[in-house]
Amino acid sequence: MNILKSLLASAAILVPAAAMAEGETIGFSQIGSESGWRAAETTVTKQQAEERGYDLKFADAQQKQENQIKAIRGFVAQGVDAILLAPVVATGWEDVLEEAKDADIPVILLDRNIDAPEDLYMTAVTSDQVHEGMVAGNWLVEAVGDAECPVVELQGTTGSSPAISRKQGFEEAIAAAPNITITRSQTGDFTRAQGKVVMESFLKSEGGENICALYAHNDDMAVGAIQAIKEAGLKPGEDIKIVSIDSVPDIHLAMQAGEANATVELTPNMAGPAFDVLEAYWKDGTMPPKWIQTESKLYTSEDDNAAIYESKKNLGY
Ligand code: AHR
Repeated sequence: MNILKSLLASAAILVPAAAMAEGETIGFSQIGSESGWRAAETTVTKQQAEERGYDLKFADAQQKQENQIKAIRGFVAQGVDAILLAPVVATGWEDVLEEAKDADIPVILLDRNIDAPEDLYMTAVTSDQVHEGMVAGNWLVEAVGDAECPVVELQGTTGSSPAISRKQGFEEAIAAAPNITITRSQTGDFTRAQGKVVMESFLKSEGGENICALYAHNDDMAVGAIQAIKEAGLKPGEDIKIVSIDSVPDIHLAMQAGEANATVELTPNMAGPAFDVLEAYWKDGTMPPKWIQTESKLYTSEDDNAAIYESKKNLGY
């Protein structure tokens, strides 16, 4: 708690808390840096915090939930004013979030959901991840028409909400098209390196000529897979259609080159809405809805991908 806030509290003066927003200390437990999208989210969060005059305590969990739990406990011990949590997996958060609740520290979830009672966090700023999968699936249904289309799927981190929900949404979208079937599905952990390795194994086991499309739960895995497809002597985007999620600059470069076909945008600005909510809460106790949904926009090779790449390339991806 900052000095101004404690002085005012001890003098029992009622203050417009807008005056107290500047100088607040925010703990941010980030998953790691598995993808370009994640790097951009970190950049944007730091920028937003700086612009608003917050002291941001940043903890990189290196993809491990235990590190995130440790970081949250550390933030509670330091008495931060709020905690942002991008949860690596969906389960196992109850105990540590109870501790934050007992200490009266609001927790806001960023970009991923958790399986826990809603009273353990203030709000979640996320996309509709089932919808993202559906947008990707609907694009494919439209793109292939009646042709037989065996699909390989690169899943995100096992147990994470986007991996679970993007799979579900895609499956729901293709359910009405019996010509489209998922023949192989495996995690690539949201990384470029694993995307490439797993795609190589798909190509080996299925044979490239038997794969009509790749659905990747993020663009980084798609970019790794594109490399594997090229090394196998095939043309990504033509021999194998590619649809993924995030809209990172590199996938727009790939679309521009005809090597990828579609992506669903996920904004890296989750912190802006989170900080707006906190400021309203500090001002007059306004409680936000439990879910603040961000937009999911489809881009395809029909768009001006060179221009989109230019507009995004310096945003911290
Ligand atoms: O939770 C959002 C997902 O996490 C992004 O789509 C992916 O790139 C990231 O690692």
